Amino acid sequence: MNTKKIQNLLNTRFLGKNVFFEKSVDSTQLWAKKTLVTSPKTSIGSVFLTDFQTHGMGRNQRTWESKPGQNILLSFIDSLPADPSKTYQLALVAGVALLKTLEIILSPLLTELEIELKWPNDIFYDGKKLAGILCEATPQAVIIGIGININEEKEGFSESIKNQATSLKEIAGITFEREKVIAILLGEYETARKIYDEEGIKPILNQWVAHDFLNGKKITFTEKGIKQEGVASGLNENGFLKIRVGNNETILVAGDILCY
Ligand code: BTN
Repeated sequence: MNTKKIQNLLNTRFLGKNVFFEKSVDSTQLWAKKTLVTSPKTSIGSVFLTDFQTHGMGRNQRTWESKPGQNILLSFIDSLPADPSKTYQLALVAGVALLKTLEIILSPLLTELEIELKWPNDIFYDGKKLAGILCEATPQAVIIGIGININEEKEGFSESIKNQATSLKEIAGITFEREKVIAILLGEYETARKIYDEEGIKPILNQWVAHDFLNGKKITFTEKGIKQEGVASGLNENGFLKIRVGNNETILVAGDILCY
């Protein structure tokens, strides 16, 4: 990973003013959190990158696995929104930024783009997971962690995820320059965050719902410990999942969704 190359390609105002790289860490998320504690003000906008994580973290206490040096594993520190109770919406902002990044990268190579967003924070291509977002708030800032499968070979995925995961290389059949993808992603995030700060979540949601993977699908979800079935029916004005259960509508604020 060449951090100089990233900084040369970067066109951002605040994001990426510091780009840190370590060959191997426990988790870029934990690294960013530690840095936020030691330098709370100066670390906003810093980006933490690695080639390998010994304890890569996914959502809901899951692990995030990634072979050394193939993929993008990054976390960055961003400021809290004006209303900190809505910090969870930054995961949707990051989702839109990631979607746009992948469209920029893939559109010259493919005739049909099938990039979709699976609520709350997954990026899918042709029904398989291409990237994930982990958004963690602290009282001072938010830490956004992004894992993108870039140059992973199909055979490189472990047995447990190989049928559910994909990579840019598997999709397009070529190797990608990770630095370029990172620079585009940071730029797209900064743009989406500016729109969010100035205009609220609505324009972000409009872009999000146009790529809603779950919309209209039969799903199972767990609410207050009870497993239920319903049909996903888009997002409400805050970015929560709307589910039709019989003749009623339920709003899910967090959770894992299985669809079939
Ligand atoms: C998910 O889909 O469950 C979220 C995955 C987030 C993974 C990224 S990889 C970089 C950053 N560091 C971590 O430990 N996790 C996030």
